[in-house]
Amino acid sequence: MAKGTVLVSGGAGYIGTHTTVALVEAGYDVVVIDNFSNSEPSAIKGVENILGKKINFVEIDTCNIVDLRKVFENYKFESVIHFAAYKAVGESMTEPLKYYQNNLVSYMNILQLMKEYGRPNVLFSSSATVYGDADILPVTEETPRKPATSPYGNTKQMAEDILHDCCRAYDGFYGIALRYFNPIGAHTSAQIGELPRGVPNNLLPYITQTAAGIRECLSVFGDDYDTPDGSCLRDYIDVLDLAKAHVAAVDRMTEGRMKEKYEIFNVGTGRPVSVLELITRFEKANDLKLPYKIVGRRDGDVPAVWADTSLANEELGWKAERDLDDTLRACWAWEKHLRNIK
Ligand code: UFG
Repeated sequence: MAKGTVLVSGGAGYIGTHTTVALVEAGYDVVVIDNFSNSEPSAIKGVENILGKKINFVEIDTCNIVDLRKVFENYKFESVIHFAAYKAVGESMTEPLKYYQNNLVSYMNILQLMKEYGRPNVLFSSSATVYGDADILPVTEETPRKPATSPYGNTKQMAEDILHDCCRAYDGFYGIALRYFNPIGAHTSAQIGELPRGVPNNLLPYITQTAAGIRECLSVFGDDYDTPDGSCLRDYIDVLDLAKAHVAAVDRMTEGRMKEKYEIFNVGTGRPVSVLELITRFEKANDLKLPYKIVGRRDGDVPAVWADTSLANEELGWKAERDLDDTLRACWAWEKHLRNIK
């Protein structure tokens, strides 16, 4: 008997694929939906290879409520994990309507149908971006959110508030927002991982593509911050640990263990790592040299952010466990798998 069934929107994406694997391994049935707008059908194949079986997959756009309704008609699930969203901070600055339209409409459709069909549990993918440039570090869930500095960040804040309002208003409606710090890594099988399109915005895919010779040189955005080595500090969370946090949150909802109808958890390691430190660790873990140069600061970067994870540790019974060097080896193994590098 399955523990329950979970609808996973955006389940072909980076975090969606790893979470789908973790859910099935933990005993859940899944229904995955994705429109491959920023992912590939091969990601679903990768998931099925790891699990050694087919999963329920429906190719639809979550913004299309007619198609989404069919999924609610055809499958019984108690919980949804809503990953489906655009995620490029810079692009959201130049194309705000694309972000508001896609990220909010898809979300409203999910919430509307969860309510209509009496499906109780909503898990939303939020982000540490809601903390902005926090005054006190590490940040706890109580740390005040700062006004969003991008439409992307704004959609995360709005989505949190909408979920909170729904949980307050509707009986039998429960929500958890997981605030992710910086997800990195790949499955140890190298069957699934991050698949950025074009030039990567994020640090790890840029590092691995530079190591693979696809990019000439990594630019380090600033070494004059008020941090120990002058480069920015982030909390890099292994995607396998992150996936397990989703399982723990779904368990909590499914087993009726929530203390409030709407809860928020930070999902990070609690350890700050600088950009320069990460480069050195990557080089050592993989026994290679990475060409890099220091350039000016990137607009919108906060100097430092890392998580206080006590709440997730205590309430979800979850803790980040993966060793950073193993994570960095998995990143490189995945890039080599993609590029057929021996
Ligand atoms: N960086 C570089 N060179 C690069 C890319 C990044 O030096 O080529 C640096 C950045 O300046 C930053 C660090 O590496 O200091 C991490 O940058 P990422 O772009 O990988 O991640 P961010 O911390 O900027 O953003 C991530 C997610 C966002 C999310 C945010 C929350 O990408 O979606 O964390 O804090 F909103």
